Amino acid sequence: MNLLEGHGLRKYYHRRGYQIQAVDGVDISMKEHEALGLVGESGSGKSTLMRLLLLLERPSAGDLYFRGGKLNSGGAQRWSHFRREVQAVFQDAAASLNPRLSVGRIVAEPLLNFGPELGSHRIDERVAAALERVGLQRDDRRRYPHEFSGGQQRRIALARALVADPPLILCDEITSGLDLSVQAKLLNLFRDLQEESRAGFLFISHDLGAMRYLCSRVAVIYAGKIVEELPVSSLEQPLHPYTQALLAAEAQLFAPSEMYLLEGEPPDPAAYPAGCRFHPRCPIRMKRCTEESPRLTTVRVGHRAACFTAH
Ligand SMILES: Nc1ncnc2c1ncn2[C@@H]1O[C@H](COP(=O)(O)OP(=O)(O)O)[C@@H](O)[C@H]1O
Ligand SMILES: [Mg+2]
Repeated sequence: MNLLEGHGLRKYYHRRGYQIQAVDGVDISMKEHEALGLVGESGSGKSTLMRLLLLLERPSAGDLYFRGGKLNSGGAQRWSHFRREVQAVFQDAAASLNPRLSVGRIVAEPLLNFGPELGSHRIDERVAAALERVGLQRDDRRRYPHEFSGGQQRRIALARALVADPPLILCDEITSGLDLSVQAKLLNLFRDLQEESRAGFLFISHDLGAMRYLCSRVAVIYAGKIVEELPVSSLEQPLHPYTQALLAAEAQLFAPSEMYLLEGEPPDPAAYPAGCRFHPRCPIRMKRCTEESPRLTTVRVGHRAACFTAH
C-alpha cells in the first residue's frame, strides 16, 4: 500500500481575471521509506503541489489518500492524525520559524499536538535529541532563531519535522541559496537521516545532483504537469526532451558541448500553450504536439513519460 497518493490533483488560482493553472492533473504516489525527488524550473508548481500534499490548500480537483484512506472527506479526526504523520520543511525555512519563540518551543510544536499524554519533561528530552540528530546542540533549544545562520535555521526546521518521528517528510528546496560547502553538509545529513529514521522523504529541488544523491525515484514537473517519472538509475537515459534538456544544462556546467540546451522561458502560467505545454521549446516537436496533450504513460517498469516520441 502506498503511504501517500494523489490522483488528478489540480490547483487553479485566479488573479486579475486570469486563471493560473499552478498544478494541473498530477498523479503522485509515495511508498513507505522511499525518497522521491520532484524537480522542475521555478514556477512549475512544485511548492503548490507540496501544499496540496500537506492539505494546507484545498485542491481545485483531485483526491488525496494516506495509507489508503481518502483524506479530503475523512473528517476532523483523520485530518489531525494526518497532520502529525506528514511533516514539512518549507522553501523559506527561516520564515517558518517564529522569531519570538525559542528554538526549543519551535521544535516541540508537532509534539504539542499529541495532547497531554506526553509530559513536558519527555517533550524537552525529545526536542534535545532532535536537535542533536540534525547536528545542533542540546542547549540550542534555549536560543532564538535569529542567532543562527541560514544553514542552521534549516536544521532547526528539520529538527521540528523529525521530532515526532513521522513516516513522511516533505522538503522544499532545502539547500537553495546556501554556500556549496553548507549544501554538501546538509545533503550528507539528509543521507544519514534516511538511513537511520523510518521516514520517507519528498525532496523538491531544481538540482539534479542532489536528486541523484538523495533519491531513488525522480518526478519531473513542467508547467504544472508531471512530464516524466523514472528511477534514479535511469536518470541518464531520460525519454522526455525536457528532462534531456535539464541534464544537458547540468552537463554544460562541467563540459560545454553541442547538446541541446533549453531555449526560451517557461510558459506564462496564465496562458499555457495548447497541446504539449513544452512544445514551443521542444527541439523534436511534431504537428501533433501543438494540438494534443500527451498523457503520462508507462514506458517500462517504473518509468513514465508524457511525450508522443516515447510512447
Ligand atoms: N497563492 C497563489 N496565488 C496565485 N498564484 C500563485 C499562488 N501560489 C503560486 N502561484 C503561481 O503558481 C505557479 C507555480 O508556483 P509554485 O508552486 O510556487 O512554483 P515552484 O515552487 O515550482 O517555483 C506560479 O506561476 C506562481 O506564481
Ligand atoms: Mg517553490
